[in-house]
Amino acid sequence: MLQVTIPIEKVDGIIGAWGGRREALIDILQDIQDVARYLPRPALEHLSKELAVPLGEIYHIATFYKAFSIEPKGKYVVQVCLGTACHVRGGRLLADRISHDLAVKPGKTTGDRLVTLETVGCVGACALGPIVTVNGEISGKMTQPKLVSMMKKWRG
Ligand code: FES
Repeated sequence: MLQVTIPIEKVDGIIGAWGGRREALIDILQDIQDVARYLPRPALEHLSKELAVPLGEIYHIATFYKAFSIEPKGKYVVQVCLGTACHVRGGRLLADRISHDLAVKPGKTTGDRLVTLETVGCVGACALGPIVTVNGEISGKMTQPKLVSMMKKWRG
């Protein structure tokens, strides 16, 4: 199983890079997530001690912003756009196909942590719809056959 986490020394490095300032908490959380791909509890506990910010406050921020995740994400974070333009061009069917073929519900990660499936609102590339993004990279004019071959590649 893919195990992604972050060593405490790395957390210390990130805190140091932001001058140990509690005002930089959101930036620090972002950097931790960039490394670990989510916000692991031990990292947040350490952050709480180092910045003297209550753990509850950190969790409040970590769960308030949609960009943060306190659950491990997959190697491939796949977002299917369900904004109006993509929806009418089959976005929902694309999400359903991933859900079905990989046995993963939207908002969840496959058991082997390979794929996290998310559905999102308009990502601002409507002319290219339907849109699927993989780890932030946009693939436009997505079709079922293209999607199937992408899924094959993810499985290796
Ligand atoms: S609706 Fe999908 S990019 Fe705008």
